[in-house]
Amino acid sequence: MSTRADTPAGYVFAGAGATGTDDPRARQHQWLAAAYDPLTTRRLAATGAGPGWRCLDVGAGGGSVSRWLAARVAPSGGVVATDLDPGHVGTAANLVVQRHDVVTDPLPEAAFDLVHARLVLRHLPRRAAVLGKLARALRPGGWLQIDEFDTGYGPCLLAPGPAARRRYEEFRAAVATVMRAAGAEPGYGAQVAEEMRAAGLTGIDVHAEVTVWHAGSPGLRLLLHTSHHLHERLAAAGLTGEHLADVRRVMTDPGFRAVSPVMYSVHGRRAS
Ligand SMILES: C[S@@+](CC[C@H](N)C(=O)[O-])C[C@H]1O[C@@H](n2cnc3c(N)ncnc32)[C@H](O)[C@@H]1O
Repeated sequence: MSTRADTPAGYVFAGAGATGTDDPRARQHQWLAAAYDPLTTRRLAATGAGPGWRCLDVGAGGGSVSRWLAARVAPSGGVVATDLDPGHVGTAANLVVQRHDVVTDPLPEAAFDLVHARLVLRHLPRRAAVLGKLARALRPGGWLQIDEFDTGYGPCLLAPGPAARRRYEEFRAAVATVMRAAGAEPGYGAQVAEEMRAAGLTGIDVHAEVTVWHAGSPGLRLLLHTSHHLHERLAAAGLTGEHLADVRRVMTDPGFRAVSPVMYSVHGRRAS
């Protein structure tokens, strides 16, 4: 099985974060699930996924979506969940978990009724080729669902003061810089529909969602967690410890409000 050697700068969240003994990947998966599973599962349900379907969840991370799908397609259907680091996916009777690099490892062709990937392709080199590989893994009539953010984050609406607003905006810009330096494309969500069309998929349907974040919002908790998880890379990008402490205070202020990134959930189907 191949490794990340093919990803020049490497998966940005692969390294340990600055959260002491806590496992930063597990915490990241927890906030991802809390913030985005309601949208992802609503969209998956809209495909008609049900008993008997064969599904693939690529870059399954914490596995909450894989396990939801496994319950949905049971007892006769099944789910294959893949990831470079599959140790967090969890288990279910009809769930097969595989260590797999979607950039370099092969996928079976015409094998799945449904293929899903959330916040994975943005991190990959040659993501258009990967999307083509996912499309070819669909059986005729099968569904591809890609869930991805657009660029960065929306505006800050309410901050404790102008300095706090500036701290937040500089932090967001630094996160985007760190992502790009690792080879990720923070604006990938807005490109998915066109890439699906280029991959020959039909019936392309785009759903976009934004919310207003406050201190308790799971999406903002995820961003707060990112300030720890990417601490070293953010420091290398020029954010001081004082800056990071300030922005963490801003993001936990009860009066803070900011617009989330746009989350796109895009469907396409392989022609029958
Ligand atoms: C931001 S997480 C998203 C996890 C999950 N899809 C979710 O939304 O909760 C990205 C996931 O993609 C995985 N990943 C990164 N590069 C990959 C690759 N080349 N092949 C397979 N998985 C990869 C990471 O290990 C990580 O679990």
